[in-house]
Amino acid sequence: MLVDGAPRVACVTPARRVAGRSVTTVDGLPDDERAAWGEAFCATGASQCGFCTPGIVLRLAALRAKGSADVDGALLAHLCRCTGWRTIGAAFDAYGVAAAPRDLEAASRRATIEGGVPQRVAPDVSLGGGGFADDTAPADALVAVPDGRGGWAVGETLTDARRAAGKVQGRRTTAALQHPLEVPAGEWDATLRTTWVEPAYLEVDASWCSPGGEPASPLANGGAFGGKAASDAPAVARRLADEHGRPVRVLLSREDTVRVGPKRPPVAAGARADGTGVLRVARTDGVADAVRAFAPGLTVEEVDVSGPPTSAALRAAGWAEAHVLLRGAAGAAGPVRSPSGAVAEAEVAEDLVRIRVSCGDPLDEVVLRSYCIGATHMALGWVRSEGIAVDDAGDPHDLTIRSFGILRAREMPPVEVEIERTSGNPVNGSDAVFAAVAAAEWIGEGCAQDWPTRRGGK
Ligand code: FES
Repeated sequence: MLVDGAPRVACVTPARRVAGRSVTTVDGLPDDERAAWGEAFCATGASQCGFCTPGIVLRLAALRAKGSADVDGALLAHLCRCTGWRTIGAAFDAYGVAAAPRDLEAASRRATIEGGVPQRVAPDVSLGGGGFADDTAPADALVAVPDGRGGWAVGETLTDARRAAGKVQGRRTTAALQHPLEVPAGEWDATLRTTWVEPAYLEVDASWCSPGGEPASPLANGGAFGGKAASDAPAVARRLADEHGRPVRVLLSREDTVRVGPKRPPVAAGARADGTGVLRVARTDGVADAVRAFAPGLTVEEVDVSGPPTSAALRAAGWAEAHVLLRGAAGAAGPVRSPSGAVAEAEVAEDLVRIRVSCGDPLDEVVLRSYCIGATHMALGWVRSEGIAVDDAGDPHDLTIRSFGILRAREMPPVEVEIERTSGNPVNGSDAVFAAVAAAEWIGEGCAQDWPTRRGGK
């Protein structure tokens, strides 16, 4: 939003601080300017789920108004988890440039394949039109938030509900990252330990329901990288609406999402150059099967560890770790064939990432490229800097989005994406890119055992 014409991050600005001042949201931009930003973001693939982009549009509009082009600097206060930043710079440059004609239905099909749930590609998505569950809730709905004891606190307003729950403000901890599993004993050519990683999707879990009705989906315009696959927000909204005889909004805060949302299962593993080895993983439904199907030479040991919930639905969980480990043991990156049948290859240098991807008919190269760059961003962050501290009791301590270690715009190198043009069955390509980039990055760094490899002082 703009406050008296200056960009401010709405999600951390209390309403009392803007009392008596002029506030402009994306809907308050002049029509032609708003439409031009929507076109520019759509034409460049600078928006996927579209949750972060209304704020970023205003930030860029303010940047343009003052005649600056320091997009990466301007984005320091923002977070986009989907796009990997680079396309946002392209959208800034594309403002006011007539877009080439495109088949947006084909683009939406590609986005749906990459995102894993129905997803729409259109100029209005970047302007807040993604159809997010909490935007459509009736004004008189009760509000329910987790009470921190496994139940739900319900109030007339969000403030009432949070007060009833006795909410603790989000925080960034000084506790160190831990690796919950030990590498199995053996003679290995490469060893790897990962920690708890937060999927960090921007639109936190939300739903609402009227008594006897159908709950709104928390997956409005994106798959949350698998993080909301088992969200209980819709079921809770339905149950509480029936119990109270009124519409109920269920809304998790960022801190709630970190506490109860699924993490990527940590691993500790060793492998030999011949493709054999042992991979220990935090016990998680489906992850052992994912590893075995991808890498039959690895023995999988599931271990019970105390920590936040984990999920095999998260992007490439298990098989990406297996790929990275085996490539590290072999000493060379090389291509990866994902379970979907996509093939990807990556070269990572400090100042440029090169990707080749083959995933059937691209359907829309702008969208596919955007997802590949987003996957590159997530893979580089995973290896280098992402992770959250979890204490011995298994409780996460890094509760703010700033503390997850996600790469900022200034830390993200340019990405060249080469897409193979075929007419084959379109399949998900960005997960293969994710695994390929992670392996290339790790091998390029010398295969340091513990991830994240470059996390400095917190
Ligand atoms: Fe930026 Fe999804 S498009 S968080």
